[in-house]
Amino acid sequence: MSIEQRVAIITGASRGIGRACAFAFAREVYRTALFARNTTLLAEVAKNLKEMGAQALPIRGDVREPQDISHAVYEVQKHWGRIDVLVNNAGVGYGRTPLMDFPDELWHETIDVNLTGIYYWMKAVLPIMKKQRSGVIINISSGAGKHGIAGFAVYCASKFGVIGLTESVADEVGEFGIKVLALCPGGVDTEMHHRIFPEHEPEGLLRPEEVATKIVSLADPKDRTRTGSSVTLYRRY
Ligand SMILES: NC(=O)c1ccc[n+]([C@@H]2O[C@H](COP(=O)([O-])OP(=O)(O)OC[C@H]3O[C@@H](n4cnc5c(N)ncnc54)[C@H](OP(=O)(O)O)[C@@H]3O)[C@@H](O)[C@H]2O)c1
Repeated sequence: MSIEQRVAIITGASRGIGRACAFAFAREVYRTALFARNTTLLAEVAKNLKEMGAQALPIRGDVREPQDISHAVYEVQKHWGRIDVLVNNAGVGYGRTPLMDFPDELWHETIDVNLTGIYYWMKAVLPIMKKQRSGVIINISSGAGKHGIAGFAVYCASKFGVIGLTESVADEVGEFGIKVLALCPGGVDTEMHHRIFPEHEPEGLLRPEEVATKIVSLADPKDRTRTGSSVTLYRRY
């Protein structure tokens, strides 16, 4: 009997942690749907995955646009007819700025991408996961989702919000066999991190591949992490 390959959707798969996730899931023989705005980068990731023999579906979209998300879910269903894992990874962050100097438009952008994007994506996949009576959603929060940091009030607010959303939705959908987790990594060696903290050396940071390995292990149906948990991941020294 052939076992149907599992399907993972990864948002923000064009670079950084999301890109590393795409490769990590493909290595575990998942079919991956890759969602982000930069079509050139997405096409490149998909091409590399296909060269590994994996099935990959690049889909252009903005997490702030519910119609982009509905379209993506429609495409994944049309191609593969199931959704086992959703990794809500797309995110934005800005350099250290005291609250009084923080531009209002960046407050809205940060909340819209980091928090509302996850809200829209969960609403889009939950009906399918409920029908399947299975599914894992991993929402990427941050160490900054657990501890407030001067100069990062808005980013922290968005990431604290991810934890509240995760715990509440986990409580709502547990009875359907759906697990919802938040992952809170410390600093990760990506473009975002180096833009915000140009002074940090890569050696002191997690590698995107380490974060991706953790995400794949949390998505495993045999993983015992309790639904609603916020899992921290720090660099091992
Ligand atoms: N790096 C760290 O130190 C660190 C630590 C803890 C948590 N995190 C979190 O981890 C996640 C990934 O961060 P990263 O460091 O890998 O960042 P990154 O290298 O800047 O990548 C961010 C990804 O999000 C996508 N994205 C941004 N806005 C989007 C939008 N409106 N719609 C769709 N996709 C969008 C980007 O793709 P496009 O530009 O192509 O759309 C890109 O693929 C974020 O949620 C971040 O807050 C990062």
